[in-house]
Amino acid sequence: MKIDYRETTNDLLKRIDIHTQFGSGNIDEWMLNIIDLKPGMKILDVGCGAGKQCFSYHSYLSGKADITGGDVNDELLAQARKENEKRQTDINFIDLNFNQEFPLESNQYDFESCCFAIYYAEEIPFTIREMHRVLKPGGRLFSSGPMPDNKRMFYDVITEATGLEIPPMPGSSRYSTQILDAMKNTFSKVDVHVFENALTFPTIDPFIAYTRASLTEDRKLWNSFFNNKDDFERIMSEITKVAQKRLDKDGKLVMTKVVGGFIATK
Ligand SMILES: C[S@@+](CC[C@H](N)C(=O)[O-])C[C@H]1O[C@@H](n2cnc3c(N)ncnc32)[C@H](O)[C@@H]1O
Repeated sequence: MKIDYRETTNDLLKRIDIHTQFGSGNIDEWMLNIIDLKPGMKILDVGCGAGKQCFSYHSYLSGKADITGGDVNDELLAQARKENEKRQTDINFIDLNFNQEFPLESNQYDFESCCFAIYYAEEIPFTIREMHRVLKPGGRLFSSGPMPDNKRMFYDVITEATGLEIPPMPGSSRYSTQILDAMKNTFSKVDVHVFENALTFPTIDPFIAYTRASLTEDRKLWNSFFNNKDDFERIMSEITKVAQKRLDKDGKLVMTKVVGGFIATK
């Protein structure tokens, strides 16, 4: 399935920042707790974006690891490389399009991750086979993505504001079903973990900023909502009214992220 999608640096970093500021839990801590990294490991992060997970592994292992991040998006890779220089870390950031054979040899990584990215793959089983190929026997793949109940309040507000049906999201519509099944078909064992993170907004501003960085026309995921050039702002203004009404009633807005962490062993 061809997925027309493009993440921009600003929108991705904005959403990450809002999770950090308003979330009750810390997804990096949750992940580091369950993935059991060890010094000396050779690690690959697929769909690394601006390098969030690579920097987290580097800091957790005090630099004692060989870490590579790969992504298809030049803008995000440039941001990751800039941060690598600024932090004086030695992470290797490479061009990697997970819809094609990875430019990497087989059987070499101890640990691999793919966070909030696998569901943008055109042929999920192909990408999962590539991830499996580059892992050493016994190596592990960690993947994260949205479970069906993810951000229910966010989708409810948008539905109430627009009266439109939410377009099928490449992630939440198939992460816990098709994608989990493909992992089970390729790997010898898959363990499922779930992380819930309630983002509590005391005012509507951060919720609206999050919504803008999600619906943004750059990402193309919500294009079916926008037929005319004024539609984006008109829809945002309707969403703002509904969010304000809910905030006036409840005193806060709570959006719960429900994330699945699948650990697959080769
Ligand atoms: C939501 S972002 C997550 C980035 C990062 N893992 C994080 O958690 O901050 C999804 C990432 O998948 C990447 N991506 C999408 N299609 C890709 C492809 N065909 N090959 C490699 N990466 C891809 C995007 O460029 C983006 O960096």
